[in-house]
This record gives sequence, structure tokens and C-alpha cells, in this order.
Amino acid sequence: MVTIEEATDPVGPSTLRRLAAAWPRRATVRTDMDEVTGPQEYDPELLDYPVALMPFGEHPDFRDAPEGKRRTVNTLGWLAYNERVVAAEEFVVNPTFEKLGHAVYPGVDRFEVKEIVRQSHIDEVWHTYMHMLGMQRTRDARGITAEPDCGHPVTNRLLYEAQEAAGERWEADLLYLLWTTVGEVSVNAFLDLMARDTTVQPLHATIARLHARDESAHGPVMIEVMKDVFVNLSRRQQDFFVASLPAGIKAFCAEDFDWWLKVLRFAGIPKARDIIEDSRGGQHAELLVTDFTGILRMLRELGVENRVDFDFEGSAASGATGRTA
Ligand SMILES: [Fe+2]
Ligand SMILES: [Fe+2]
Repeated sequence: MVTIEEATDPVGPSTLRRLAAAWPRRATVRTDMDEVTGPQEYDPELLDYPVALMPFGEHPDFRDAPEGKRRTVNTLGWLAYNERVVAAEEFVVNPTFEKLGHAVYPGVDRFEVKEIVRQSHIDEVWHTYMHMLGMQRTRDARGITAEPDCGHPVTNRLLYEAQEAAGERWEADLLYLLWTTVGEVSVNAFLDLMARDTTVQPLHATIARLHARDESAHGPVMIEVMKDVFVNLSRRQQDFFVASLPAGIKAFCAEDFDWWLKVLRFAGIPKARDIIEDSRGGQHAELLVTDFTGILRMLRELGVENRVDFDFEGSAASGATGRTA
């Protein structure tokens, strides 16, 4: 099994070969399916989603709301967390893996790259299925029969906006690759928010933990792929990629306040808009994910770490990890 420690070694072609060779033993779809598909206990007293990850969890108007409504928000928060993962995989990462397989990007025609991209693609489809199962388990256990229509999560919305603003096909293709790379090197920071939590249903933490194990390989894979692509881009394409990095980083890490507002209203929480507006900025940053380790490593490997206009230190100091439960 590839550990996170191994994944911090310098990335290179031998890393890809090693990761590809270990996939049949490492992939959770092969080794851990029973943990998710088998019978599971559900403790209705436990939360579905950590209060510490709700940006308004300590807001007085939210705390004053009836407990039943607050619990509905909590359950919908867990469903939204999964929706965000699934939407990224289905609409951003997998389309990018398909583009990589179809030689849309230069520099990725080696077999070892194609092989590991296919392996990672299989992992992603399994992850979507795994999160789907987790969501359905929750709906059944909580008797959820209706959910708000929140549209696409913030990470996807911002990609579609950037794509529309860009206009040209090659720009759109690079934006998909950028969003995927940032996501793949950062998704464990997102999953770890749940994987280590002991206040929620054990299955919910298990799903995040299993998913994170596969992703500890995907991060190094995407860094290596990105290095191969980047050196083969034209100067203009490289500049576009670097200039778009801050938008991609913000999109992946953003807290989704628009989504939360719809959830609060759907649950019938009074003063929903006030609660959300008070929770923006201030002590709680606009970011849900503030661990930039993977991103910084990727920027270093590409040699562009000094060209990216993003306040990593300031953002890390004021994010979700600073929230109180
Ligand atoms: Fe995944
Ligand atoms: Fe992944």
C-alpha cells in the first residue's frame, strides 16, 4: 500500500510505475468494498456532519432555531458534502481523465501515464458510487424524502464561469486540467475534515477515510502528469494556466454559502439570510479548505511557485480549521 509518507517523495516516472504496479493491491474498490456495501449500524443520536464544518454552527440565531430543524440542516450538510465530491468527480475530474486518454493535452502519450490515468478513473467512478451509497443510507435512516435543489456546487460553478469567460477551446481544456490537478492534490485536505471526526456516524468517516487512501496516490499522479503537460505547452498557454491558478485554488477551497442559504431556507430556519451574511468573511474565512500543502508542492514541481497571486499564509490562518465546534 502506498502511504502518504511515500507520496511526499519526489515525484517522477518511477513513482508512476510504482503506483501503477501497486494499484491492484491498493485500490479500495478491490479491497474495501464490503466496508461500504455491507450492513451498517446507524445511530440516530449521532450527527451526520460535524458542527465544526458548518460556518454558522455557533451563530446565535441558528442556535436558537428548533432542534429538529437544526438536525435537518446537519443531515443536508452531509448530503451536500457528498454532492460536492460527486459533482467534482462526475463533471470535472472524469471528463479531464477522458481528455487525457484522448490526447487532448500534449506530452502524455507514454503508456505508464495512460495506464495510471485509467486506474485513477476507475477509482473515481467507485468513489462516486461509494458516496452515493452513503447518501442513500442516510436518506433511509433519517426518512429524508425531499431535498433542496441547489444546482452545482461552488467548485463546479466557478469552473463553468471561468470557462465561459475564456471562450477558446484550448483555454477551456486547460481550465479542466487545472481544476482537476488542484482538486487531486487537495482533495485529501477536504476528506480529512470528515475522516478523523468522531462526532458523526462512523460510516461517514469511513467513506472519507477510504476515499482519502486512494487519493493519496492520485495527488502524485496528477503532479507528474501536469509536469509532462506543462513543459509541452506554448508560452501563451503556460501564462494562461499560471494566471488561472488563483481562481482554481479559490474554487476548490471555497465555502459554499449560496448552497448553505438554500439548505437553511429549505429546513425552515428563521433569519436564514442574516445568518449566512453574518458568517461570511470576518472570523470565518470564505474558505472551507485551508491546507495548501498539496497545491504548494505542485507549484514547486512546476517551478511556478513565485508566479501565483494567492495569499496562502493569510488564508491558512483564518479558515475552517480555526472554527470552534
Ligand atoms: Fe475521488
Ligand atoms: Fe482522485
